[in-house]
Amino acid sequence: MALRPPRLTIVDGALDAAARVVGVVVRPDDRVVMEDPGFPALIDLLERAGADIVPVPLDRQGIDVDLLRKAMELNPVAVFIQPRAQNPTGTSMTRLRASEEAAVVDGTRAIAIEDDHSGDIAVADVGVGAFLPDRTVHIRSYSKLHGPDLRMAAVGCTADVPDALAARRMFGAGWTSRVLRGVVLELLTDADAVAAVAEARTRYAARSARVREGLRDHGLSVSPGDGINVWVQVPDERASLVAMAARGIRVSPGSPFQVAPGQVPAIRVTCGALPDDMDVIDTVAAGIAGVEAPVGMTVSV
Ligand SMILES: Cc1ncc(COP(=O)(O)O)c(C=O)c1O
Repeated sequence: MALRPPRLTIVDGALDAAARVVGVVVRPDDRVVMEDPGFPALIDLLERAGADIVPVPLDRQGIDVDLLRKAMELNPVAVFIQPRAQNPTGTSMTRLRASEEAAVVDGTRAIAIEDDHSGDIAVADVGVGAFLPDRTVHIRSYSKLHGPDLRMAAVGCTADVPDALAARRMFGAGWTSRVLRGVVLELLTDADAVAAVAEARTRYAARSARVREGLRDHGLSVSPGDGINVWVQVPDERASLVAMAARGIRVSPGSPFQVAPGQVPAIRVTCGALPDDMDVIDTVAAGIAGVEAPVGMTVSV
């Protein structure tokens, strides 16, 4: 969905963008809504900023609207949303959900901060910005599209957040290298690079669909999703990690992603580094589910 914010600035990755936006928008003791489970670095960032985090669970279509409405009664200053390929669950919002969330945020004092960390490696093309253009700060990272070492993200908004952020930056690095920006522009417009991203999107989708299918076939409860991440509920996080390590499989523990206490234990499986060979993926899925012995190699998923 084309979003053409009139104000735009370039910073050094989505996390840098989030930190700078928090620096402009959040004051100690301000309430900030975020998805639960969510990105651990954002949890740390908000805690360091002294924010009072209001976690809101997700359902299959994104942040739960009724619970978001309830959270807005606490008068937060910002709502952080990952519109697509949410880390860790892989959830992409539906357009309907994006419009509902925008309607809930509209009429409050909060701004929506959209962390589009996956960009076009996600299949969905959705965001709340299209429905709440005046009060959405859109962060678009190029890390997952073209490599995290680029350290580049765009921050777009109609309000003055990008200007405030750029002004503060003049006391430090000043700006992101124009040479690197030229490289990213080329990557975003060159036909071969665009085709390579489309190919990556298709392959990631096929791998993660197969992982989901395999895990479900083995009786595990798995998030629906997009991009590279799959969120899997397990009986016991630690026991699962240890058992998987013994089979040569490394996954991320779920607890660092969980904000509210007392949630169902889970792990995050990342499909980005898996091979395209579906037999290997089936073996890894069986290994995660605990029904198969060693995969014969160490895989980090
Ligand atoms: C939700 C989320 N936000 C931000 C980032 C950081 O992205 P960047 O490399 O652009 O700083 C990540 C990285 O995985 C992420 O998952």
